[in-house]
Amino acid sequence: MKYTQFDLEVFFAKYEFSAPYLLCSSDCEAMSIGELLSLDDGAIEDFHNHWLGYTEAPGDPELRQLVASRYNKLSDKNIIILSGAQEGIQLFSQTLLQPDDHVIVMFPAYQSLYQMATDIGCEVTHWRLADNEENVWSLDLDFLRDNIRENTRAVFINTPHNPTGFVVPDAMLEEIVTICRDHNLYLFSDEVYRELEVNDAPKAISAADKYEKAIALGVMSKAYGLAGLRIGWVASQDTDLLQELLNQKFYTTICNSAPSEFLAKVALKNADTLLDRNRTIIESNITSINQFITDYPNLFRWSPPQAGSIAFPRLVTETSSEEFCINLVESHGVLLAPSTMFDFGTHHFRLGLGRKNLPECLEHLADFIEQT
Ligand SMILES: Cc1ncc(COP(=O)(O)O)c(C=O)c1O
Repeated sequence: MKYTQFDLEVFFAKYEFSAPYLLCSSDCEAMSIGELLSLDDGAIEDFHNHWLGYTEAPGDPELRQLVASRYNKLSDKNIIILSGAQEGIQLFSQTLLQPDDHVIVMFPAYQSLYQMATDIGCEVTHWRLADNEENVWSLDLDFLRDNIRENTRAVFINTPHNPTGFVVPDAMLEEIVTICRDHNLYLFSDEVYRELEVNDAPKAISAADKYEKAIALGVMSKAYGLAGLRIGWVASQDTDLLQELLNQKFYTTICNSAPSEFLAKVALKNADTLLDRNRTIIESNITSINQFITDYPNLFRWSPPQAGSIAFPRLVTETSSEEFCINLVESHGVLLAPSTMFDFGTHHFRLGLGRKNLPECLEHLADFIEQT
């Protein structure tokens, strides 16, 4: 099947490796293989000796155990390791969805969460987030209740959310689970930004710990800052569903990269160190953005996220965010992602909070603003 163009990824392919100041990256600061290996005694030698044969299709058993330990109720049997989070969206959509099924998807969204369903031929209802004048985001639970149909098969949520930074509160997640359970729906919960709660926000409980038909998506790319590993996973209490996804995986990647699985294990054995480092970067960047927005009250509104590494501030000028972002990157090399890449109007842009050089990027953004 041919999928519709992935606008955000096409935009990133154009600028990510040429623009010097990336201010909209969704992942946290990465590190070198050497830095990662130095976190574990003996890991450098073990890595050199690591076998480069095929790996187990569901993923290295110890890695599955380490991933399961990030949840409350799950064991290694509830985890399948994948080559990135994107593979989980594809496996779920292709395995579970048929033309004429109906799905409800939080919107805006990482495009594949709704695009794959659309291209398969499903009816897709957008469950829209909205922000107020102060850029505080909200989601209407009644909309979900009112839009379930006879042929609804699944609800897709993403929390912490890309691009708005909205976090589904625990009480709302409970309600979503109740609605899904009452209608026997799958709940696909994209949680790739989980474990990035900042400024004392409560720790989020995964949908996979709450609901027997939930499938949670996780990855090493975002909270752990290790996107180059291309290691993600699906987590679910429904082991029959996992088996179905595994059967499809034999047509996508078969099994995962052996060096990446090794490195992911080192990272998860040192999860607290990596997560603390990345939360500290985000908290410091939130302080910098608060100051920056105060300096330009006539240009921006923003509300800092409670968790995750991204926000979706409002541009309060006549200029469209696409024009603003393209002029900015072409003239000053600072990359922001306009809301048009999320098919969400012209008034917002995505901001990334996980990179160490954010203050430097802001200096160049300030130069741009002063000159225009
Ligand atoms: C919400 C969401 N889901 C899934 C992905 C895919 O993650 P990965 O690139 O690590 O496969 C992304 C990447 O930006 C994302 O933001």
